[in-house]
Amino acid sequence: MPAPTILVVDDEQLIRWSLKDRLSDQGYRVIEADTAASAIARSEEGVDLVLLDYKLPDGDGLQVLKKLKERDPDILVILLTAFSSIETAVEAMKHGAYHYANKPFNLDEIALLVDKALETTRLRREVKTLRANQAQPYSFDRIVGASSALVTIKALMRKVASSPASTVLLTGESGTGKDLAAKVIHYNSDRAQKPFMNITCSALPESLLESELFGHEKGAFTGADRQKRGLLETADGGTVFLDEIGEMVPGLQAKLLRFLEEKTFKRVGGSVDIHVDVRVIAATNRKLDEEVRAGRFREDLYYRLNVLPIMLPPLRDRADDIPLLVEFYIDSYNTEFKKRVRGVAPEAMKRLQTYGWPGNIRELRNTVERAMLLAEGDVLQGGDFTIGGSAAVRLGDRVELPPNGIDLEQLERSLVVQALERTQWNQTRAASLLGLNRDQIRYRIEKFHLEKANTH
Ligand SMILES: Nc1ncnc2c1ncn2[C@@H]1O[C@H](COP(=O)(O)OP(=O)(O)O)[C@@H](O)[C@H]1O
Ligand SMILES: [Mg+2]
Repeated sequence: MPAPTILVVDDEQLIRWSLKDRLSDQGYRVIEADTAASAIARSEEGVDLVLLDYKLPDGDGLQVLKKLKERDPDILVILLTAFSSIETAVEAMKHGAYHYANKPFNLDEIALLVDKALETTRLRREVKTLRANQAQPYSFDRIVGASSALVTIKALMRKVASSPASTVLLTGESGTGKDLAAKVIHYNSDRAQKPFMNITCSALPESLLESELFGHEKGAFTGADRQKRGLLETADGGTVFLDEIGEMVPGLQAKLLRFLEEKTFKRVGGSVDIHVDVRVIAATNRKLDEEVRAGRFREDLYYRLNVLPIMLPPLRDRADDIPLLVEFYIDSYNTEFKKRVRGVAPEAMKRLQTYGWPGNIRELRNTVERAMLLAEGDVLQGGDFTIGGSAAVRLGDRVELPPNGIDLEQLERSLVVQALERTQWNQTRAASLLGLNRDQIRYRIEKFHLEKANTH
């Protein structure tokens, strides 16, 4: 960090010199001005603090103070007055002076005042940046949306965050904000200063996932050449986010249940019970009750997790939030791409609001990002948006291609059927999933002789 710059404004050369001498000794960079006009001019050089004489040949210090503050509200100004006038001092403070000092002043006092002022702003700035960089991303405000569904969910999240609840279950389609919700809950709980650890259950084979979670002892298995602490231990006092819990194999489900109930576990290959205080937030885009019925997910674990369920609704069920989300992403990409997009044309917004968003907020974000990268104008038009990409991608995670090779007619039929099923035969929504209009989908329904019951 460069040394702070101090501007000394006084028409008396002797005063400027003595202040400069003293403050340079303290390591500050000091520049001078002897009139109101030159003070304003020199302040352009990037000044942190101004020592400002009240009486200047071409004006008074209050006017200079106002101008300085207009340009840079954060600038620190200490007013030097020759006579102790309470009114002047009050006036100065009202206009944002940091402090004032009476002339003749004591150099030590001024030096101390300057140190203190600069230290305070440094700290204030530091706190500001820290907040912006860590807490802010996960404040409740980061969850954009004002639909009643979202308002209810945010209220519930607040309650959960401040409660002692040790398990939370987040459900919702891919891209609905489960990751974000988990972080917001953690960073707004009294666990915020402790670790937030994150693992995706489907990403690792069973044995690896187990040792990642619970850790292992030396020699527990081939390759375990030393003891290793697992996520649960590392996160002690904090939160472990188990993503895609629906994919966890039954053996591990049992071990997880034991941990949730007893708060203790053993490392792989270990015999000692280890106790930790961890909140587990589990997430899944599967319907866990169906997984239970199908015998793929333990019923007892399901009930244990489901004590505090939070269901994140798909974006298509809260179209009211779309303009807010679009605005949010325009703002953030304006900053990131140094653009000046002001908004979205009404026609284009209508399209965004009627499309089905199978990829939910993630897909909306990517769509806005792409539009912002390509757009020429400062208002995004319909043509700037590529909604959907290829039909197969648009149908989301469970597209099944027809078994006997690629027959275009058959592929088309299959996509239409899947869109209709996903939307419970809402033709408008199915059409928008496919990037078609209502007539186009009706035509296809007739062409393929589709009916609600016989589509399989
Ligand atoms: N309510 C919301 N407001 C703003 N951004 C959101 C919201 N919900 C999700 N997002 C963003 O959408 C993207 C996908 O969210 P994510 O939490 O990864 O979803 P999931 O884990 O359910 O797949 C992320 O970039 C996330 O920041
Ligand atoms: Mg996720």
